[in-house]
Amino acid sequence: MEHDSPKHGKLYLWLEERVGLSDFAKLARKKEVPLHRHTFWYYFGGMTLFLFVIQVLTGILLLLYYRPSAGEAFESIQFIMTEVQFGWLVRSIHSWSANLMIFAMFIHLFSALFLNAYRRPREMTWLSGGGLLGLSLAFGFTGYLLPWNELAFFATRVGTEIPGVIPVIGPFLRRLLRGGNEVTGATLTRFYGIHVAILPALVTVVLGLHLFLVQKHGMSRPPSVEGSGEGKRSMPFFPNFFLRDLVGWLCALGILAALAAYFPAELGKKADPFQPAPIGIKPEWYFMAMFQTLKLLPAHILGIEGELLGVLGFGVIGVILIAMPFLDRRAAGANRSSRLAAGFGLLLIVYSVVLTYLGYTMSAMK
Ligand code: HEM
Repeated sequence: MEHDSPKHGKLYLWLEERVGLSDFAKLARKKEVPLHRHTFWYYFGGMTLFLFVIQVLTGILLLLYYRPSAGEAFESIQFIMTEVQFGWLVRSIHSWSANLMIFAMFIHLFSALFLNAYRRPREMTWLSGGGLLGLSLAFGFTGYLLPWNELAFFATRVGTEIPGVIPVIGPFLRRLLRGGNEVTGATLTRFYGIHVAILPALVTVVLGLHLFLVQKHGMSRPPSVEGSGEGKRSMPFFPNFFLRDLVGWLCALGILAALAAYFPAELGKKADPFQPAPIGIKPEWYFMAMFQTLKLLPAHILGIEGELLGVLGFGVIGVILIAMPFLDRRAAGANRSSRLAAGFGLLLIVYSVVLTYLGYTMSAMK
């Protein structure tokens, strides 16, 4: 038996009896990654995870100095940027890594969509991924306000206005988000609580489920590969694929360090609620397509408020995306890629890129 083997030391044997180390080793030996022409895309889930860990670590360091009140938030960030040793680096990495994490997550999402990785038995993996998408965007939205600078303040005012257009529950939602009728210090404190306590707790549970399911089902083999007679080659996860993951993470760390050093996070001017909104208010890039859509919609379409139609449209797109495992029925089980998923994914990418481009170029013209 393995745990009786003389090659293990006393500590190993002590732990083996109490924790069952050989079970973990067995699990690690069993894990394999399919090898085919799309294997490259399997790196992006791990990359998202790595950047998320960076967020947790740098976020904890920022917590040591950050103060969540309208009177002190901006000044505490100024202090972090100028006085705290390496404070500027930690904040800049937190800010860059947030953007790279969301970018990596989008690549991960679209590759899972195009490769039909959501199909049976991975429907719950996809749904938990949908939860992670929502939580990550909420992290970005709430984090943006925390420096309490002008740009973030007015962008949050616009952002929290949007759910207000929903009939019946809209005004309640807006008050719930803002902690009152306006964006004030109460909003800041609320966003802080959501950002550092509620979202991390939820992500821990949903991410735990996501990773458990990935472990349980193993990586999927895309239908286009199954049908092509490429054979069923695979690579052990430990150490072969994991070492490749590590190389990717090391590159990401290098890119992060360079971005943070050459383009440190900005702070701008302190928010002043009594000043008029400055020109060029813009949200984070991943909200830009939605922001620009709402800006371009006419005030009324067929007697219905344009903004309301826009928000309903985003809702429908979100539901189609999340429900994809259940909509893609025709090809389910067959070794055929889904045209619905490919068409929808492509349309979503083209639409987002065009509207994001318009968002940056049109506001620059103003
Ligand atoms: C915080 C965000 C996320 C993290 C940290 C994460 C992490 C991971 C990891 C490490 C894997 C295994 C390796 C890989 O496939 O790349 C994975 C697989 C998967 N993820 Fe995610 N994920 C996240 C978000 C999402 C989102 C937004 C979706 C889609 C809605 C999603 C859907 C999937 C699916 C379907 C698989 C299985 C892939 C397969 O078996 O081929 N994930 N995820």
